[in-house]
This record gives sequence, structure tokens and C-alpha cells, in this order.
Amino acid sequence: MNARRLLCISPRSFDIALCDQLPASEWDVHVARDLNAARRLLGEHSFLVGLLLLSEIDPGRCAEFDDFLHAHDTLEWVGGFKPGALELPACRDLILDRMFDHLTMPVDAQRLAATLGHAYGHATLRLGSGRHETDAGSLAIVGRSPAMARLLRQVGRIAKVDAPALVCGESGSGKELVAQAIHDASRRSNGPFVVVNCGAIPAALIQSELFGHEKGSFTGAGRQTRGLIEAASGGTVFLDEIGDLPLELQTNLLRFLQESTIDRVGSTRSIRVDVRVIAATNVDLETAVSAGAFRKDLFYRLNVLPLWVPPLRERSADIELLAQHFFHKFGSERSRKLKGFSRRALIAMAAHDWPGNVRELINRIRRAMVLAEGKLIQPADLGLEHLDAAPIRVPLDEARMAAERHAISGSLQYAGRNVSHAAKQLGISRMTLYRLMAKHRIDA
Ligand SMILES: Nc1ncnc2c1ncn2[C@@H]1O[C@H](COP(=O)(O)OP(=O)(O)O)[C@@H](O)[C@H]1O
Ligand SMILES: [Mg+2]
Repeated sequence: MNARRLLCISPRSFDIALCDQLPASEWDVHVARDLNAARRLLGEHSFLVGLLLLSEIDPGRCAEFDDFLHAHDTLEWVGGFKPGALELPACRDLILDRMFDHLTMPVDAQRLAATLGHAYGHATLRLGSGRHETDAGSLAIVGRSPAMARLLRQVGRIAKVDAPALVCGESGSGKELVAQAIHDASRRSNGPFVVVNCGAIPAALIQSELFGHEKGSFTGAGRQTRGLIEAASGGTVFLDEIGDLPLELQTNLLRFLQESTIDRVGSTRSIRVDVRVIAATNVDLETAVSAGAFRKDLFYRLNVLPLWVPPLRERSADIELLAQHFFHKFGSERSRKLKGFSRRALIAMAAHDWPGNVRELINRIRRAMVLAEGKLIQPADLGLEHLDAAPIRVPLDEARMAAERHAISGSLQYAGRNVSHAAKQLGISRMTLYRLMAKHRIDA
């Protein structure tokens, strides 16, 4: 079994020594002497379990720890306190609100190992309920919809091979995250992951950006420069918006994919580079191929391992999970009284069609976390008040009737009460409209 990663926070080295008694084959302990050091470690690794050892606690500092544990509540926390600490209300709240379990110091090492084991088991259960981590563990792809489960299986398979991959999907759907997950789970994970947005680099510069240039090869080329592909040596280059790559560079890229060599601009010598290419597009490349804007041979070369990231509206099972994930992730941006989403907000989010996908979800949630005034986020905080489901908590028949009535009175209004025009707008005959008006008791 791989050692499980443990974050131990304690200002006292005497307390930390306790961790030495945990078997190294079971626990990989990372120690932080203060909260800043802990934050740094949390940025560098992913942890499932945290241990807070406070054999001397100043009740005045409980609020600080409370905030910290709250902001990092994806970990299960275990506390170690001196006897009597539980009589302090602040300390008791810290344990009740934020901790999986607590022990009284001095702690018996066996007991500690057992408690940490339970906490870890609990955290893994939570993960199994929808949070997936790549092997590198540093970033999480959240989702448990069948579409996402399938995608994650494909990521695992594609990570095992070295051929180019093509990730397709709408903007903001998670293509870059998927590419990063492939890299992290691949044998190249210790090498660089270099992102190139082909749509953002001016056409005149993109060749030297990608392939590098020799000194003096063009005006402004002051010194020899490595390109981004070379910079990704031993790792992966992620070519985002590959459809925007100018045709002549598509030729260079194809040559790189076939021969694994590149030519710097102004150089006569080819350089061998070991880089995996993952490309992404939000346009249909086959259409671009038919239109002559994308090389067919390059398309086939890239499309050996195609991946489709479904838009968020097609995996509605993930919306709530993602929303909760980002609510916690941006924990430090919210006021402490904000507890989560109202039911109506969850319903509105499920009804929205998310043209900007996960990126839009992140933006709406961050905005709501700043704007929300109550304890729970409401549809209006998310800018989704038009989808507030409160008025349609009625049987479908009634909802249909209401919608029909609304459409008819609206188009009559719009048509200046001209029945023929309104009928035309509604796509029904004049007679049908008269019948519906009678049914709903609407006058012309
Ligand atoms: N399934 C997911 N779980 C967690 N975060 C996600 C997920 N999908 C997308 N994101 C986040 O949404 C944002 C947009 O994703 P990104 O990969 O940049 O989309 P794309 O490359 O398709 O435009 C990023 O911040 C990314 O981390
Ligand atoms: Mg992107």
C-alpha cells in the first residue's frame, strides 16, 4: 500500500514528534509549524486528512483555526488537545463544527493511527461519492455523471500511451483540465505541461513561439530562443484552439508529429524533441477540413485518440456537485455566515443551459458568494432569477396551462391585439387561437 499523505499542523516540536511514531510505510507526514506553512503545503500537494495538534491552546486563536479548517473542509481533520481544552466553548465549537474526531493529549500512537485511518477511510468515501483525483493528486476532476465517468476511463487509457490526442468540446467545458489530467497520469507527469493558445498568439509570431528561432533570423530576434514545443521536452504540449493554427504552421506541426523533430526559424539543423502533443478544439475540425481551413492529414494524425468533453447542460447530475465543489474551493471569498445554496438556487442552476459551461458556473458562484446577503445563495445572487422555480411548484398540467396562457396573452399584446398576426407568430391557425383564447378567457 502507498503511504497516505498526512498534513500535521503544530506549533510545538514536542507534539510533532508524535508523528514519528506513525509507521512510515503507512503515513507520509508533511509538517507545518504554522498556518502559512500549512497553506503552502496545501497548494503543493493534495491531502485527505489533516492533524491539528494543540497541546497548548490560546482560546483567542480558536477563531483563526476555525476559519482555516472551514476554508479547507475537503480534508477530514483530527485534533489533539490538552485535557480540559474541551471546557473552552471556542475549542468545543472548533471540534464540533470542523473536526472528524479529536483525541486528548498525550496521545497513544496506536490510537492516533486508528483514528487517522478512520478519517482517511471517511475522506475516501466522500471522494467516491463524486470527486475523482488523477494519479498526481494535485487537481481534481469533479463529476459522477455517466458521461463524466466514461470520460475519466478514457483519460486513464489515453494516459498509458504516447500518441497525440485531440480533446473536443465547447469552451469552458474542461478540455484543458482533461489534458492536464492525461499528462498527470502519464509517464511524463514529472516533465513540463506547456499550454499554448494557438488562437491568442499573433499569426506573425506563432511560428517562432512554437518552434523557436535563431539569433537574427528576423527583425527583433535578438538572441536564440527555444520554442514552446522544445520547452515541453520530456513532457506534454497542450495546443489549445488548434483550429486557429495557420495552414503553413499546420504543415510544420504535422512534420513534428511524424518525425519528432523541429526546425527553429532561421536554422538549418533539425532538433529532436521528445514531447507528447495534446490538441484541443471547440470547433468541428471535420467541417474545417471540408472548408479547406484545416489539413486533412493533420486532422487524421491528431484524431487517433479523440476525446469528447460533453457540455455541462448534458451532465446535469454534475451541476450540484461542481457548485458545491467551487463553493468550498473559494471558501475564503465568502462571509462566514454563508452556508450554501438554497433549494431554489439548485433548481435554477439545473434549469439553466450553461452556454459558458463550467467556467460560467465558476463565475456565477464567485459573484453569488460576494453578493449573497442571506445564509443561503438565492437564484438572483447567481443572476438566474428568471429561472427561479418557486412559482412553478405545481403539477405539469397546470404549468402547461400557465405557459400556454402566458404565450397567448404575450403575443396578442405584441401583435397589438391583432389575432391574425398573433396566430402567425404562434404558428397556429386563427381558428385555433380563437379556441384557445376562449379556453383561457382571454379577450382580443
Ligand atoms: N469537471 C471539472 N471539475 C472541476 N473543475 C472543472 C471541471 N471542468 C472544468 N473545470 C474548471 O473550469 C474552468 C474551465 O475549464 P477549462 O479546462 O479551462 O475549459 P476549456 O479548456 O474547455 O475552455 C477551469 O477553471 C477548470 O479547472
Ligand atoms: Mg481552454
